[in-house]
Amino acid sequence: MTFQTLLLETRDGIAFLTINRPDKLNALNDQVVAELHQAAMALKDDASVRGVILTGSGPKAFVAGADIGDLAKQGVIDGRERALKGQQMLYALERLGKPVLAAVNGFALGGGCELAMACHIRIASENARFGQPEVNLGITPGYGGTQRLPRIVGKGNALYMLLTGEHVKAPDALRMGLVSLVVPQDQLMAEAEKMMKGIIAKGPVALALTIEAVDRGLETTLEEGMRIEADAFGLVASTADMKEGLTAFLEKRAAKFTGK
Ligand code: COA
Repeated sequence: MTFQTLLLETRDGIAFLTINRPDKLNALNDQVVAELHQAAMALKDDASVRGVILTGSGPKAFVAGADIGDLAKQGVIDGRERALKGQQMLYALERLGKPVLAAVNGFALGGGCELAMACHIRIASENARFGQPEVNLGITPGYGGTQRLPRIVGKGNALYMLLTGEHVKAPDALRMGLVSLVVPQDQLMAEAEKMMKGIIAKGPVALALTIEAVDRGLETTLEEGMRIEADAFGLVASTADMKEGLTAFLEKRAAKFTGK
């Protein structure tokens, strides 16, 4: 599969998906959004892919936001349509059924921060900067900034970012829980790959059900969330992977999961 605005390479079960508009700091124009959606659907269906690492091209930016040139031309109807299309693309990544890791290599602003937040794990290089600067432009976030950000960093930190538009440096993003790890820039992709290799060595069904239980549980009551968890816990008992994982532990050997 080839794209105009993305690079896609698969190695040892990991898909490396790179947004490739470095001259525009990888800003999300309509084509990037459409291609990311296509890529997410293709990666979901590709059985050879066990996990995805998403990053931005060049040394400066993960994604510096939605393309402001596009936004400047939008009206009521196409503006709403643009937000909905972006949100659908982010759902496609979030519901890929496989772990998606954002390797944030620079600016992650507006749609870039929102894109990173739709990924299951975020790690950042030391030069990364996160922000929701939409209010500087007189607009509100459209790709989940008002919704995923408070779920990840809490209401206070979210409103701080959303109302001030300040760029949050990587160590502060770590403190807020917006990222899980900060590493030197030249080690970012190696660290991302190392983390993803460790994750995809685990049971694929267990990984998928864990992501689903977290996401669905966050949208409901504790009691209902516990039921979702119990259902997943019961469901994995039907898998060969559970038998293999438990047996391997008892036999003091590494488990070989098949996703069955
Ligand atoms: N949309 C469209 N183009 C963008 C962009 C965006 N969100 N962010 C950066 N670019 C473009 C710039 O217009 C510039 O293009 P040009 O060389 O054709 O003029 C190029 O990317 C480089 O950006 P530049 O501003 O020159 O880099 P910088 O290092 O001086 O500043 C930023 C970097 C990220 C601070 C600055 O680009 C910025 O504030 N971008 C907008 C961030 C934003 O508000 N995002 C939310 C949008 S809803």
